Amino acid sequence: MAPLHQSVSFQLLSLLSLAPHSWVTAYDYTFNPLEHLGRASPYFEPRDVQPSSPSTPQGCTVARAAVLSRHGAINVNDDDFADWIQPFLVKFLNHTSTDWSSIPSMSFLANHTSPLTPDSEPELLTKIGELEATEFASKFAERYPNLKTPSKVWASSAARTYNTGKAFASGIETADHPIEVVKVNEGLQDGANNLIPWRACPEYREVGIDITEPFREKFAKPIKARFNALAPEYNFTTTDVVGMMLLCGYEAAIQGNSPFCSLDLFGPDDWLGWEYADDIRYNYDAGYGNYVAGPIAFPWVNATANLLFQETAEEDMYVSFTHRTLPSMSLAVLGLFNNTAFVGSGPGINESFPLDRINPHRAWRTSNLSPCLGNVVIEKLACQGSYGFDDGEYYRVLVNHAPQAIPDCSEGPGASCSRSGFEALLQEKEELYYGFSEWCQVDYDNSTDILTFYQHYP
Ligand SMILES: *[C@@H]1O[C@H](CO)[C@@H](O)[C@H](O)[C@H]1NC(C)=O
Ligand SMILES: *[C@@H]1O[C@H](CO)[C@@H](O)[C@H](O)[C@H]1NC(C)=O
Ligand SMILES: *[C@@H]1O[C@H](CO)[C@@H](O)[C@H](O)[C@H]1NC(C)=O
Ligand SMILES: *[C@@H]1O[C@H](CO)[C@@H](O)[C@H](O)[C@H]1NC(C)=O
Ligand SMILES: *[C@@H]1O[C@H](CO)[C@@H](O)[C@H](O)[C@H]1NC(C)=O
Ligand SMILES: *[C@@H]1O[C@H](CO)[C@@H](O)[C@H](O)[C@H]1NC(C)=O
Ligand SMILES: *[C@@H]1O[C@H](CO)[C@@H](O)[C@H](O)[C@H]1NC(C)=O
Repeated sequence: MAPLHQSVSFQLLSLLSLAPHSWVTAYDYTFNPLEHLGRASPYFEPRDVQPSSPSTPQGCTVARAAVLSRHGAINVNDDDFADWIQPFLVKFLNHTSTDWSSIPSMSFLANHTSPLTPDSEPELLTKIGELEATEFASKFAERYPNLKTPSKVWASSAARTYNTGKAFASGIETADHPIEVVKVNEGLQDGANNLIPWRACPEYREVGIDITEPFREKFAKPIKARFNALAPEYNFTTTDVVGMMLLCGYEAAIQGNSPFCSLDLFGPDDWLGWEYADDIRYNYDAGYGNYVAGPIAFPWVNATANLLFQETAEEDMYVSFTHRTLPSMSLAVLGLFNNTAFVGSGPGINESFPLDRINPHRAWRTSNLSPCLGNVVIEKLACQGSYGFDDGEYYRVLVNHAPQAIPDCSEGPGASCSRSGFEALLQEKEELYYGFSEWCQVDYDNSTDILTFYQHYP
């Protein structure tokens, strides 16, 4: 006689096969590596855990808005190229003893010609990056039909940020309403008054890449073992693995797709490991784990809030382009995506990024926060007749088009923050972070703690 459990499961099985199709809601598992690429992510609008509507809340109109955006997709970042991609390409192009075509998951390597070569010039905005910036401008204009087209757009002076500003401007300027792209200097002695203030801050250090090393080695280990079982002569190293993963992102930024993104090569777990490694890294480089992040980004948050608070202002939309660091740090100033915000007296921010395993519940996810063209928008809302809310002025933050409730200040329509609440938040942050020059221990004597370039530049 068959054991009992066997016949029970047999009955269950036959029940299942008789059930109408809708009896079980099928969970279609899909995975797109391009949404888990960390620093090499092309632009996308992530589906938030809390999918709040980006529409303006009922009864409100957007009276003014400010946006701080990372530049658009580039062919390759200089450090990513020098540290990982170039070494991989040099080794790969020189390697002849493996017949790639006989390894199914790697057969593309037999014929692959990367748009990047060991002699590539890094940091160029790609055609796709340019088009996306142009499209971003028209989407932005559609989102805010009652705001007047800006007369100026600000961009830090590097080619990729400035050209992103240019491409954005070209998306909405007209012959009778040209847009000036103001090139804001990326100086080492400009204090807080620019769009890349970390460069003028001697205390700022990019420690993330080293802190991440144990986890990078951990996630790369099974990948190397798998690859080396397939191609023993190649001796895949962590540098090769990271180089290939980065090539997925950058080749996609150049030509729309890349065989390095195939899930036959790197599976979902590989990408989730890679993504987490970048979240650790940028926590320490540009987030809560960097003690000068607040002092560096507070001047932008404060200046921007004050532009929005004013009765009247020159622009209805203040648009600025920079590198990934400033938008990320600004999120930390606003208290958003704080891993520990909802665990009370639980672990500290650094403990919430263990180096021996993934923290799947973290809020700080680089792919979602700072893909290329990743942006933070602060809206000033004028609300009247929003049922159940007081009439008045409110402030709402959107990150890549997804509204984000500011911790302790989300009592308004659409989880926005009242003007008095937003003022109180700024006051609190000013007390914590005021004093760029002192925090940064600047070694030049003409520094400034305040960002003023929106009013007058230079
Ligand atoms: C190229 O390959 C040859 C033969 O395997 C090796 O001796 C040489 O060191 C390699 N050169 C580089 C730059 O990797
Ligand atoms: C490589 O290209 C050649 C010539 O186009 C083709 O015959 C071959 O099938 C390709 N190999 C692979 C593995 O794609
Ligand atoms: C300080 O002086 C240097 C050298 O003239 C200049 O480049 C920099 O912009 C100045 N900084 C400020 C904050 O004005
Ligand atoms: C493989 O590469 C590693 C790292 O560069 C090196 O230490 C090791 O000796 C290499 N192994 C072989 C078999 O070439
Ligand atoms: C997290 O670690 C960094 C780097 O070691 C350190 O500077 C920072 O103060 C730590 N942050 C917290 C909140 O402990
Ligand atoms: C914040 O903005 C106010 C109003 O413009 C200004 O008076 C103050 O100095 C600013 N503080 C910082 C640290 O930017
Ligand atoms: C992050 O959240 C924790 C827990 O609520 C809080 O103590 C901490 O101040 C927050 N960090 C920042 C920089 O807002």
